[in-house]
Amino acid sequence: MRLFRIGMMLFVVVLLARRAHRRAHMPASRDDPKFPTQIRCSLAREWGACTEASQAMPPLLFLGAPPLPLCLAGRASRRARLAMAFAAPGSSSSSSASFDAAAFEAERHRLDAAARDGMASAAASAEADPRAWKWAIRKRVWDALEAEGIARDPRPVHHRIPNFDGAPAAADALGRLDVFQNSQWVKVNPDSPQKQVRFLTLSGDKKLLTPQPRLRTGFFSVLDSQMVPIGCIPEACTSVGAAKYGRPIGLDERIKVDLIVIGSVAVDPSSGARLGKGEGFAELEYGMLRYMGAIDDSTMIVTTVHDKQLVDDIPVEKLLVHDVPVDIICTPTQVIFTNTTIPKPQGIYWEKLSPEKLGQIRILRELKKRIEQETGTVLPCGPSEKLPPTAQRTRRVRRQRR
Ligand SMILES: *[C@@H]1O[C@H](CO)[C@@H](O)[C@H](O)[C@H]1NC(C)=O
Repeated sequence: MRLFRIGMMLFVVVLLARRAHRRAHMPASRDDPKFPTQIRCSLAREWGACTEASQAMPPLLFLGAPPLPLCLAGRASRRARLAMAFAAPGSSSSSSASFDAAAFEAERHRLDAAARDGMASAAASAEADPRAWKWAIRKRVWDALEAEGIARDPRPVHHRIPNFDGAPAAADALGRLDVFQNSQWVKVNPDSPQKQVRFLTLSGDKKLLTPQPRLRTGFFSVLDSQMVPIGCIPEACTSVGAAKYGRPIGLDERIKVDLIVIGSVAVDPSSGARLGKGEGFAELEYGMLRYMGAIDDSTMIVTTVHDKQLVDDIPVEKLLVHDVPVDIICTPTQVIFTNTTIPKPQGIYWEKLSPEKLGQIRILRELKKRIEQETGTVLPCGPSEKLPPTAQRTRRVRRQRR
């Protein structure tokens, strides 16, 4: 009993110390001229390494950082984490025995909240934004899905790849396509409306390639049904489950992806033009897979959407080089081959990539550094941007969500 009390007191002391540490490192607003530094600091903190000494270390040290479960594990494991940070990318193991789903969720919520902080004025600056037309279309679709009772959890659907009534039916239509059935490797986005696509991929004995949430925490995870205990495939289709059962891969993994499934906010069936939720992750994921040689121009890109997400006013001439078009659209009621003539992106367009976005995504910094070392040139950097707002997220632990 005495031991138990001492243990509890120690626990509370450690908790308070951690909270004080976090307070002391609260990021300032995005208008603060020091902001980029603080992004770096907060990223370093992601790996529990925001100390004087570690801030002086080059970012390379964080390249092979461990998957999330270790991040909340308290002070004792800091040394272990730093040691793991030296491991080669892609070599980190994710044994399901040591996987802490609650810590993973908590850290993910914290990152989401951090991303949202300081973005409040993004809407106000949309006027001056040359991409404002995209936001007008997105808002129209999000509003319509909510107003017409089509939206499904997580809600509100604003600033997300919206989940919709009939999403599993749209996925089943995709599952019946030859191009899906003949695929061995399928890359699927991690959002709720494509959960059934992930399920069909795993239960169809295909390899599922899915990004770790927001790519902040790592890169892609690979899963197949062999890696998932019997009865756990539905769980493996959630983002927590994918991280729990999946094997993280690095940029050097030799893979060939046969089909890309991408989430959309709006798509134009007559041109194949697509709008995502505006964070640019799908474009970056696509570009990185191109860099890895995992996909090429001939790799089909399919999206599943509700019919209400079909639009006819995306001006193709205003799309940017990194915007990813779709070849096939599956809705609960139809399958559309767009025969798109919009060129597919050829890789990452560094000159378009803002320092803020680069600061968000560790694997991109690794890739940039690597290309610069390989080619002996300095890659360009895009103009500064105000990152768009992210979806409203509760801090409650929910497992079914992205
Ligand atoms: C794409 O081409 C096929 C025939 O090759 C045609 O049936 C289909 O209608 C075309 N799609 C669009 C959106 O025009």
